[in-house]
Amino acid sequence: LLLLTCLTNSVAQNYDEAKVPAYTLPEVLKTAAGKEVTSKKMWEEVRRPEILRLFEDNIYGQMPKDYDSIRYTLKNEDKAALNGKARLKEVIVQVFRNKKSVQIHLVMFIPGNAAKPSPVFVLINNRGKDNTDPTRKVKSGFWPAEMVIDSGYAIAAFHVSDLAPDNKDTFMNGVLQLYPEQLEADNGMRAIGAWAWGASRVMDYFENDKDIDAKNVAVVGHSRGGKASLWAAAQDRRFAVCVTNCSGNTGAALARRQFGERIARINTTFPHWFNNNYKKFNNNENDLPVDQHMLIALIAPRPLYATNASKDLWADPTGTFLALKNAEKTYALYGRRSKLPVNPPAINVPLSQPPLAYHNREGEHDMTAYDWGNFIRLMKSRP
Ligand code: GCU
Repeated sequence: LLLLTCLTNSVAQNYDEAKVPAYTLPEVLKTAAGKEVTSKKMWEEVRRPEILRLFEDNIYGQMPKDYDSIRYTLKNEDKAALNGKARLKEVIVQVFRNKKSVQIHLVMFIPGNAAKPSPVFVLINNRGKDNTDPTRKVKSGFWPAEMVIDSGYAIAAFHVSDLAPDNKDTFMNGVLQLYPEQLEADNGMRAIGAWAWGASRVMDYFENDKDIDAKNVAVVGHSRGGKASLWAAAQDRRFAVCVTNCSGNTGAALARRQFGERIARINTTFPHWFNNNYKKFNNNENDLPVDQHMLIALIAPRPLYATNASKDLWADPTGTFLALKNAEKTYALYGRRSKLPVNPPAINVPLSQPPLAYHNREGEHDMTAYDWGNFIRLMKSRP
């Protein structure tokens, strides 16, 4: 095993565009039976379920939808938060199954003067809890509550550790205690799936909060959280918009380009993120029955914003752009014409128009006020 691990780690990650191998992407719009998908109906009834199943079985695992009950408790409220501009709500979303439960601590700021329910951005927070500080002693560009409120939207967040600790030895101490059978299955849910599951339970809550416009929820994630936001939006069509920031490998970037992080590497460093079956594709990208453009296609016709950062080659900015391009045909089935150019835009040229939005921000692997400003632009320019 040690030898195997060493071999896997020794596969150099490529950062040279000239060394990207020739590849053929699996076809989005051809059914398993070889039929061309020519209509929205055929997509929704035949091909979309096939692709969803392939992602469940080979990568992210099943998404259990049954639970015994769910309880929402308002733990804290401040009607004059952010200098009177917003209402703060902290809600505990508690989900029960098999006499076990998980608690999701949801933090929300809602515009104070809103005449009707507010559209909301909900962040799957994979970084320090400080980033979503309800007291606002700590303010971070990662979750710029003040800026989002000023632009007329609500902003919410929960932390991934409430669902599955981000650790290979302890990830099962969360949602997976409610669904222990998942751990036994090679296509069972793992940590990224658990985080996406949490986003859906937060959506269950939003549907019960009169301050929130549950038909206008954008699910947001950065990096590993952005892999989860994609999976959440693919699984749960109640999310109106998806934002995936620097999500890279097994996020919005094409695996077959083998540029930056690769499957063997992600499965070695983070064996708890994806299901057992995914390990079969270590150093074997071309055998995958899907590639990540198909995950984006599952989100059609809903707007999707994928970002990258210029110094974050690990997450393959070009491979992300190409994944979006290869999902365009699916959006077209719904009459949503992509406005993306043929080639990736220059650094700091945001293409924030729906349905497929993209930018490559100058700088490091992060999510910043620059990124959020553009997510807001996408929300505002939706049809
Ligand atoms: C690592 C990992 C990436 C991930 C990133 C993050 O770099 O290899 O796949 O996206 O962490 O979550 O910040």
